[in-house]
Amino acid sequence: MTATRDHAEQATAEQEKRRLDHQAVVKAYHRYGRLYNLVFGAVMEPGRKAAVKVMGCQPGEHILELGVGTGLALPYYPKETRITGIDLSPDMLALARQRIEKLNLQNVELIKMDAQDLQFPDHSFGKIAVMYVASVVPDPKAMLAELRRVCQPDGDIFVVNHFASRNRAVRGFEKMLAPLANLVGFHSDFDLDRFIEDADMELIKITGVNLFGYWKMLHFRNRRPGSTGRHS
Ligand SMILES: C[S@@+](CC[C@H](N)C(=O)[O-])C[C@H]1O[C@@H](n2cnc3c(N)ncnc32)[C@H](O)[C@@H]1O
Repeated sequence: MTATRDHAEQATAEQEKRRLDHQAVVKAYHRYGRLYNLVFGAVMEPGRKAAVKVMGCQPGEHILELGVGTGLALPYYPKETRITGIDLSPDMLALARQRIEKLNLQNVELIKMDAQDLQFPDHSFGKIAVMYVASVVPDPKAMLAELRRVCQPDGDIFVVNHFASRNRAVRGFEKMLAPLANLVGFHSDFDLDRFIEDADMELIKITGVNLFGYWKMLHFRNRRPGSTGRHS
């Protein structure tokens, strides 16, 4: 009886934490959504372009873009490829919607959804893009579990993100910038090795992107690391 009650209390506490985490993301992007394109548009554009290029999207494919934001990458996908973009922030989605209307992108569908609790059936997508989102979601491990689930076995997942530098001097500088990074809800001390371990997928390649390769593009294949065994 006590164990059941403890379990129920823990589940309620987790739900409450998730609700508060969501609120923080939505609030941050409500405040800085309009500024976002200005601050993070051009600097991180090469990473978006590089990711969409290596994805090699084909006509008729259905791609998921997780944390689509204001839709800065949307114009780079071929018009014959169907794109579903999801994001938690209504403000970012409204800006993305303006973009798709302005550019008449009829291949794009936008949905308000939590990356940690995707409302898609298992194995829905062959390719998934996750650009500058991994260090913003409150629980990256939960997001990764959802990515493995909705991606087809042997499908491809492309993550572009900044990870904490291994250089001590740069790392110190990043710590100084942490309060600024926190304003838009992203953690400047995000660890690459831990992320790869949590991904629990075969890592195909890491490529440096953007200024001096300071950001990384990670290409994962949706199967267990070091084997050809598929994630179920
Ligand atoms: C730094 S922006 C990146 C946006 C876009 N991918 C780009 O390249 O500019 C991070 C985005 O992740 C979204 N986000 C944060 N947590 C999320 C979650 N749990 N589920 C879905 N989207 C989330 C934010 O609302 C924001 O739009």
